[in-house]
Amino acid sequence: MLTRRDWLRITAGAGAALTLNCTGEGSGGAEMAGGSGQAGAGSEAAGATQAAGAAQAAGEAQAAGEAQVARTASGEIVKAIPSTDEEIPVVGLGGRWISTRSTPEELADHREVLRTLAADAPPSGRLFDSAAGYGGGASEDLSGDWAIEDGFQDGIFWATKVNVVGRGGGSADPAEVRAQIERSFERMRLDVIDLNQVHNMGDPPTQLGVLQEYKDEGRIRYIGITTTSESQYDELERVMREHPIDFIGIDYAVDNRVAEERILPLAQDEGIAVMVYLPFGRSRMWQRIGDRPLPEWASEFDAETWAQFMLKFVIAHPAVTVAAPGTGDPEHMVDNLGAAHGRLPTQDHLRRMVELVEGLPSA
Ligand SMILES: NC(=O)c1ccc[n+]([C@@H]2O[C@H](COP(=O)([O-])OP(=O)(O)OC[C@H]3O[C@@H](n4cnc5c(N)ncnc54)[C@H](OP(=O)(O)O)[C@@H]3O)[C@@H](O)[C@H]2O)c1
Repeated sequence: MLTRRDWLRITAGAGAALTLNCTGEGSGGAEMAGGSGQAGAGSEAAGATQAAGAAQAAGEAQAAGEAQVARTASGEIVKAIPSTDEEIPVVGLGGRWISTRSTPEELADHREVLRTLAADAPPSGRLFDSAAGYGGGASEDLSGDWAIEDGFQDGIFWATKVNVVGRGGGSADPAEVRAQIERSFERMRLDVIDLNQVHNMGDPPTQLGVLQEYKDEGRIRYIGITTTSESQYDELERVMREHPIDFIGIDYAVDNRVAEERILPLAQDEGIAVMVYLPFGRSRMWQRIGDRPLPEWASEFDAETWAQFMLKFVIAHPAVTVAAPGTGDPEHMVDNLGAAHGRLPTQDHLRRMVELVEGLPSA
């Protein structure tokens, strides 16, 4: 029987046909969101009036992005990767917390989280974002083993990252880059990696050059680059303009909207998919929310929890392709996947979401 892996090897790069069970509903539908938040002013201190005005302006500029939203037969929202039109579910999983230091109980939970992520996934699989550097290699290694042992490998869209340059920056040795990429194949037990990105802007010309070779060989389907540091945004912009990348990974959240200013519009202009990191700001948003009840009007866009509220905010941005929240709790995974169902916020909702969050105490 032809597995998805076999099929991907044969048809590398021609992913659009993978979304056979998508209805294609969505262009111009009432539940589609346009813009989000406060373009041009990332500061949490900015006034609500300013936020509202900017959100409206951003919304008008981003309305074209609504056409990117589609749904599977089960109603799960998927978006197209611009470079191929392959559609992937808008909620995935961040794999940063699977570690050699995790306890057996924590690892059992992570395994269940991954099984939940993969269950009943559309043909593309749901995105799992790992990295060669996560958890002393355990994130790639254990996820790969569990996928084989539990039989859910095809339910995952496998994303990882490469970086052989230290935190202080510097040059990458191409041989070391290749060695790390080969190790990712072995650890994740994959013949084809769906996405490999340069982690934290490490020597982009060298590391993207090596990733491009793998892409040309059909062993890596998509390549990209990531940062969650605003001080690297200028360099990220340069790379987005100068290199033929498929994806970026960047921090973006209802209370962290700096990416809206230049990065997200540029991604739309250049046809680059956006993976959102830190949609909850790790613990930040949870501290800011405290025990406040979810506003009743969140039901107007089918958010039943704060996690869904925050995920629907980022998903609604037309430049955003997929969000990768981190969790080690299977119930939270179910909750997060729920954000890919139901209506998305309208522009008016997005404005109210920003106003509400700006009224919360700082973390
Ligand atoms: N430069 C880079 O490339 C870069 C940098 C940073 C992060 N990342 C990626 O982004 C991913 C996400 O980052 P993150 O995990 O640090 O931050 P995050 O997704 O913003 O937040 C994770 C936190 O939210 C909690 N949480 C998740 N779902 C929840 C729910 N439904 N209800 C209540 N709490 C919930 C988690 O706790 P529980 O475990 O208890 O659910 C965890 O404490 C990482 O795993 C990694 O893949 C990439």
